[in-house]
Amino acid sequence: MTETALALTDVHTHIGRFHILQGVTFAVRAGGVTALLGRNGAGKTTTLRTIMGLWKASSGAVTFQDRPITAFRTAEIARCGVGYVPENTGIFGQLTVRENMILAARSGRMDRARLARVFGYFPPLEQFWNSSAGHLSGGQKQMLSIARAIIEPRKILLVDEPTKGVAPAIIDAIMEAFRDCNREGTTILLVEQNYDVALALAQDVVLMDDGSVRFAGAMEAFRSDPKLGENALGFAAARGPQRPAAPGWRAERT
Ligand SMILES: Nc1ncnc2c1ncn2[C@@H]1O[C@H](COP(=O)(O)OP(=O)(O)OP(=O)(O)O)[C@@H](O)[C@H]1O
Ligand SMILES: [Mg+2]
Repeated sequence: MTETALALTDVHTHIGRFHILQGVTFAVRAGGVTALLGRNGAGKTTTLRTIMGLWKASSGAVTFQDRPITAFRTAEIARCGVGYVPENTGIFGQLTVRENMILAARSGRMDRARLARVFGYFPPLEQFWNSSAGHLSGGQKQMLSIARAIIEPRKILLVDEPTKGVAPAIIDAIMEAFRDCNREGTTILLVEQNYDVALALAQDVVLMDDGSVRFAGAMEAFRSDPKLGENALGFAAARGPQRPAAPGWRAERT
C-alpha cells in the first residue's frame, strides 16, 4: 500500500467569472516526485495556487496528510510543512538575498549546515548575500526562490516551473537540490515544461488540459502511451531545439 501525501478531490476553482479548474482529482504519493504536466494555460499554476490557498476552491477538497486544508489560510498551509516555489520566483526585490532567506525560514533562524548546503547548490547566493535581490540575474533569482523553499525541511514542495529560462548548468544544480530534498523524505509536486527534467526526477505524472486531469499514474505508463504524448505536446514542443529529444518521445514519434 502506498501512502498519499496530498489529494485533490473534484476541485473547482473560479477566478473572477472564469471557471478555471473544472473538477481536478489526483493524489500525490508520499516520498515521491510527481510531475504536473500540461500545455500553457492548462491550469497547472492555478492548481498549485489552489493547494496553497492563494485561490480558494469553490468546491471540492484538498487533503494534506489526511487533513482537509481546503479552508486553511496560506500561512497555516505553510506551517503544515508545505513549501512553495511560485512561478516567476516570488522573491522580494527590494530586500537583500539574506533578508529574503531570513523571511523564508519559519523559525526565524537559519540552520548553518543547511545554509551551507544551499550555498553548495547555488554559490551566487553566498556571493551576493548582502546585495539587493532585485539586482540578481534571472537564473540567480530562481536559485533564491528555490533556496527559500528548501532552507528548512518541508514535508512537501510545490514547485512551479523551476527551470524556465535557466541555463543547463543551473538546471543540474536545481535537480540536485530537489533530488537531495526528496532523498531526505520531502514529497515533491513539480510543474515542469522541460520533459527531460520531469523524466529525470518524477516517478508519477499528472497531465492536465483545460482545467481537468487527463491522466494520473506512473511515468512508465505515461511514456508508453503515445496518445498522452500527443496531448502533452504543448510542453514537449516548448523544450526548444537546443536539447536532444528525450528517448520516450523519439520512440513514439518515429
Ligand atoms: N488571474 C487570472 N485571471 C483570469 N484568468 C486567469 C488568471 N490566472 C489564470 N487564468 C487563466 O486560467 C487558465 C489556467 O492558467 P494557469 O496559469 O493555471 O495555466 P498554466 O498551466 O500554469 O499555464 P503556463 O504553462 O502558461 O504557466 C488560463 O486560461 C489563464 O488564462
Ligand atoms: Mg503556470
